[in-house]
Amino acid sequence: MASRLLVLLSFSFLFLHTYLSSAVDSISGSQSLSGDQKLTSNGGKFVLGFFSLGKSPQRFYLGIWYNTDIVSIITPVWVANRATPILNPSSSEFKFSNNGTLILLNQSKSLVWQAKANASSDSIAAVLLDTGNLVIRDRSNASRLFWQSFDHPTDTWLPGGKLGINKVTGEIQHLIAWKDAEDPAPGIFYIEIDPNGSSQFFILWNGTKIYWSSGLWNSKIFAGVPEMTSNFVYDFEYVNNEKENYFTYSVNSVDVISRFVMDLSGQIKQFTWVPASKQWILFWSQPRAQCEVYALCGAFGSCNENTLPFCDCITGFRERSPEHSDLGDHSGSCLRKSPLKCDGNNSGGTEMDKFYQMDTVRLPANPLALNAGSASECKSTCLKNCSCTAYSYNGGCSMWIGDLVNIQDFYGGANQAGTLFLRLASSELPDPHSKTTKIILMMVSAITFLTFSTFVCLIICVCLRERRRTNTSKISTDGTTVAFRYHDLKRFTKNFSDELGRGGFGPVYRGILPDSTPFAVKKLQDLSQGEKQFRNELSTIGTIQHINLIRLYGFCVEGSHRCLVYEFMANSSLDTHLFHDDKTNLDWEKRYQIALGTARGLAYLHEKCRDCIVHCDIKPENILLDSSFVPKVADFGLAKLIGRDVSRVLTSMRGTRGYLAPEWISGVAITAKADVYSFGMMLFEIISGKRNTNHWEDEKPGFFPAFAVRNLMAGEVARLLDSRLAGVAPVEEIARACKVACWCIQDEEIYRPAMGRVVQMLEGNLEISMPAVPKSLQIYMGQQQEQIMYFSPLPMNQNAVVPSFVSSGSDICGS
Ligand SMILES: *[C@@H]1O[C@H](CO)[C@@H](O)[C@H](O)[C@H]1NC(C)=O
Ligand SMILES: *[C@@H]1O[C@H](CO)[C@@H](O)[C@H](O)[C@H]1NC(C)=O
Ligand SMILES: *[C@@H]1O[C@H](CO)[C@@H](O)[C@H](O)[C@H]1NC(C)=O
Ligand SMILES: *[C@@H]1O[C@H](CO)[C@@H](O)[C@H](O)[C@H]1NC(C)=O
Ligand SMILES: *[C@@H]1O[C@H](CO)[C@@H](O)[C@H](O)[C@H]1NC(C)=O
Ligand SMILES: *[C@@H]1O[C@H](CO)[C@@H](O)[C@H](O)[C@H]1NC(C)=O
Ligand SMILES: *[C@@H]1O[C@H](CO)[C@@H](O)[C@H](O)[C@H]1NC(C)=O
Ligand SMILES: *[C@@H]1O[C@H](CO)[C@@H](O)[C@H](O)[C@H]1NC(C)=O
Repeated sequence: MASRLLVLLSFSFLFLHTYLSSAVDSISGSQSLSGDQKLTSNGGKFVLGFFSLGKSPQRFYLGIWYNTDIVSIITPVWVANRATPILNPSSSEFKFSNNGTLILLNQSKSLVWQAKANASSDSIAAVLLDTGNLVIRDRSNASRLFWQSFDHPTDTWLPGGKLGINKVTGEIQHLIAWKDAEDPAPGIFYIEIDPNGSSQFFILWNGTKIYWSSGLWNSKIFAGVPEMTSNFVYDFEYVNNEKENYFTYSVNSVDVISRFVMDLSGQIKQFTWVPASKQWILFWSQPRAQCEVYALCGAFGSCNENTLPFCDCITGFRERSPEHSDLGDHSGSCLRKSPLKCDGNNSGGTEMDKFYQMDTVRLPANPLALNAGSASECKSTCLKNCSCTAYSYNGGCSMWIGDLVNIQDFYGGANQAGTLFLRLASSELPDPHSKTTKIILMMVSAITFLTFSTFVCLIICVCLRERRRTNTSKISTDGTTVAFRYHDLKRFTKNFSDELGRGGFGPVYRGILPDSTPFAVKKLQDLSQGEKQFRNELSTIGTIQHINLIRLYGFCVEGSHRCLVYEFMANSSLDTHLFHDDKTNLDWEKRYQIALGTARGLAYLHEKCRDCIVHCDIKPENILLDSSFVPKVADFGLAKLIGRDVSRVLTSMRGTRGYLAPEWISGVAITAKADVYSFGMMLFEIISGKRNTNHWEDEKPGFFPAFAVRNLMAGEVARLLDSRLAGVAPVEEIARACKVACWCIQDEEIYRPAMGRVVQMLEGNLEISMPAVPKSLQIYMGQQQEQIMYFSPLPMNQNAVVPSFVSSGSDICGS
């Protein structure tokens, strides 16, 4: 209901319900289209007509959209006069001119749009096809095409459409985002094939700055988007011959309605229509992190991955008009609050401009490198030049002239990160003048503090060294983590010879302490952290103790060596027991206890620790089993250890396929509910004993969760049990586990239970209501068997890109 209202508000159509039974799909000769007249494609999927945007004045566009019988939200997929709206469609005309050109005239009969067909007007017709393609063709021979809208896409790429270049005519098919949500005029972001002829696609900002590339086509995939491969539903095809060079796709199912859009957000997005909930769901997008879009927030705006909206104006600037950015256009929306004084001469005056310090930001684009030997020289050079708006000093001096674009707050990337000094009028900054006494006071206290803390540090260091000397070969029992010496670890592991596995964070080796306690040591790779930070993070992780969380015995940090020493798990990881043999040593009771234990461990991480830790890579490889099959969650907290802001790592990383929650691809902040989702996916695998994506139904590949939910609804849960268990399991427990799993994989975070609640549900202490079928599963459930495909919006082939290793470090949080 609400969405329908929204439709009525934002796209106020002339007459929403003029659905003519005698629908026509073409015009020819002297026929014309005005007002609320429409063409409807032969199969009834698409309509062409005038639609309106904006409130006052209402602007009208000639466009194609899905028939509202099929997609109830008006969704234009092509706009003829995108930059030249008309005001009154009743007195406008869409028709053929005498010379065979298809034209659109506005109310004053001026030409606002045309499509040239090299043919005489009495032999041709304009026909709206069921693919959403408007073609001008020969009236008597349907295969003689003179023009088609698929060759001139606006922002949408429909199945059957091409993105590429016609090498003969030089025509390029690219997608250009709308200017804002109510203006289809060409905006600032577009996607096109490399004009220089290589086989890759770029997304560009304002035609100049490439900020995303698909990577080269390697005859199967684009290197940067391996997930875009043909599968049960989609066929992707890249063609490069003498005449043309393009990428196209088709959908093999009449039930799947899907479109790619160059979005206002600067991302290319794929949406799929879910009839049951009357919504477009986001299926895929690139670049994955919103702030990777170049200059998204415009001049003097700053992008922040952890807030919604993503854009804000930097200190000293205000938003021009909220409506402006509400529509999604952030360019030019920040204005300086107080004009700069810019008085480079003023020595000792009162009105000089000041610098505001912005820490850990992504520095603005287009710096000018300056020759300045020191920070103060850099500063004064900037201050003297009235066009200098900011500077940064990091061994070298950079300054910026004019607008500052592409700033990002809380930036974790290694490149372009730094401290920016932003020039502002002194009135924008707290006045530190005439506060000399304060400064002196501060200095005195700082010196006192420094002396004191150096003294304390010395004492602590001496103590620690003593302790380390005496303590390195025993595991402390009081729960503190121990610092190992690297050469001791080397000895205990026989020079790191017994490799247990290898993950994103580095390889894991087995070792034995002199008191014959076995242990596992992970050698971390690619650490960007210094020793102090590393120890800091460890002190957090090291204090986390729970029966279902792997115990950290200690660590080593020496030179460039960083190791983590863990308790040894005799039964390796869950996946080895679930997936690999014809027989299984995990009976139902063990599996249920493993699920419950894992849930308890996660609940502890999420809810009981001082700082909530989102694991972000829950999968069977990261659930280790001790000698009595008690599960222990491994690899928690490592994202932080690697030295990056967790939420950023999360949004920019590539997770393990099949366990990732939908919010991973939409670029919004990740919460503990993402773990709940992955847990649900894993729970299905614990029930079936197979990877969710390795499921076969009637000799056809299927997706287990969809199968499970269908059977759960039909009350036939016994079918879901791993066949190796020969039906030995209480049906009500299987049903309970299935319900919990289904609740966990709800698309909307808020419908997923918190981990603590999952524990209660599994313990049987809570009545569990029947879950709703997750929207993303609905897509597949109504279809015939052969159309069932993987649910994951990410790639089909599990092992193609992210190999799964025993005890793997998360490829997610690590890379
Ligand atoms: C065809 O007619 C339109 C409108 O009358 C005019 O703008 C266009 O230039 C003509 N094209 C050719 C090829 O004559
Ligand atoms: C009709 O289009 C012409 C050319 O784009 C434009 O100059 C004129 O203002 C338009 N007239 C109206 C009433 O929109
Ligand atoms: C138009 O068509 C004629 C004959 O059909 C052909 O000779 C001519 O080259 C075409 N012109 C263009 C611009 O394609
Ligand atoms: C229709 O047009 C196509 C393409 O121009 C041509 O190959 C075909 O022979 C034509 N068919 C007839 C019946 O004229
Ligand atoms: C295309 O080639 C030109 C000249 O070699 C080069 O300047 C330009 O950067 C290239 N463009 C892209 C998008 O690679
Ligand atoms: C985009 O580029 C054009 C010219 O290339 C320039 O005039 C315009 O200011 C640019 N837009 C922005 C937002 O920088
Ligand atoms: C700087 O001082 C000189 C001499 O006092 C003066 O001529 C000049 O206009 C001043 N410049 C600015 C930017 O105030
Ligand atoms: C400011 O710096 C820019 C870049 O170095 C230079 O082109 C410009 O002339 C300078 N302006 C003044 C007033 O020094």
